[in-house]
Amino acid sequence: MKSSYRLLSALLAGSTVAIPTVYLAGDSTMAVGGGGTGTEGWGVFLPYSLQGVTVVNKAIAGRSARSYTDEGRFTTLINSVVPGDFVIIEFGHNDGGSLTPTDNGRSDCLGAGLETCTTAAGVVVQTYVTYLTNAALSLIEKGASVIISSPTPDNPCETGTCTYTPNRFTGYCQDVVANASSHSAFVDHGQYTANEFISLGVTVVDSYYPIDHTHTSPIGATVVAAQFVKGLLCGGSPLASHVKNSTSSIPGKCI
Ligand SMILES: *[C@@H]1O[C@H](CO)[C@@H](O)[C@H](O)[C@H]1NC(C)=O
Ligand SMILES: *[C@@H]1O[C@H](CO)[C@@H](O)[C@H](O)[C@H]1NC(C)=O
Repeated sequence: MKSSYRLLSALLAGSTVAIPTVYLAGDSTMAVGGGGTGTEGWGVFLPYSLQGVTVVNKAIAGRSARSYTDEGRFTTLINSVVPGDFVIIEFGHNDGGSLTPTDNGRSDCLGAGLETCTTAAGVVVQTYVTYLTNAALSLIEKGASVIISSPTPDNPCETGTCTYTPNRFTGYCQDVVANASSHSAFVDHGQYTANEFISLGVTVVDSYYPIDHTHTSPIGATVVAAQFVKGLLCGGSPLASHVKNSTSSIPGKCI
């Protein structure tokens, strides 16, 4: 009795069971405080659906795959993760746009492969797929599991009729997962959210976008977060085992 008590105490004291961290890397649609003016990012609401993990939201408004890389933010994440951690990466809203005549420091070189572009100032810019593949491979090398998530939709009901066509970043996300292969998974967050928004209809969805067609209200962000969780449960990431909710409890269908 006494020795088994001692054994138990030793186990409790010596082997602290590590709780994995879920890091979020993305832009304002995921970040704390969203795009300002009362909007909110969906990453703020993700922790309510997870258990047995700590969520650290490293999303920053205005960032793209390129600027998040250039500012050393992926390097910081790569240095922070330990085996068993998760990293959810979602970019796209600031990655479009042209590199000429003026480079805003965020636009990527167009393409899904190893293409590079050189700006007027002589800066060599890589593709979205290259930036995210490099980040994913380094994170996986450190023992993390990576989830590449397609960008949230711009208000799919803004014309008065709800409709959604994925932009090129959705395909790029699938290319990143194909490049990074094992220990990475794809969540088509844009499509899951759009499907739910289309079923909610124009009046509700317009109310979720109080300032523009990109940034959601806090209530809108809870729906966007729920649809990420739905995609996680329907797809193949090991993070799904940390979800509190059943797949059928979240609106929508698996795609
Ligand atoms: C990613 O895959 C594309 C083809 O889909 C390939 O052209 C490219 O070299 C890969 N990128 C990296 C960084 O491995
Ligand atoms: C999952 O369940 C928790 C309560 O246990 C709730 O707070 C959360 O909103 C739920 N998430 C979704 C996506 O329904």
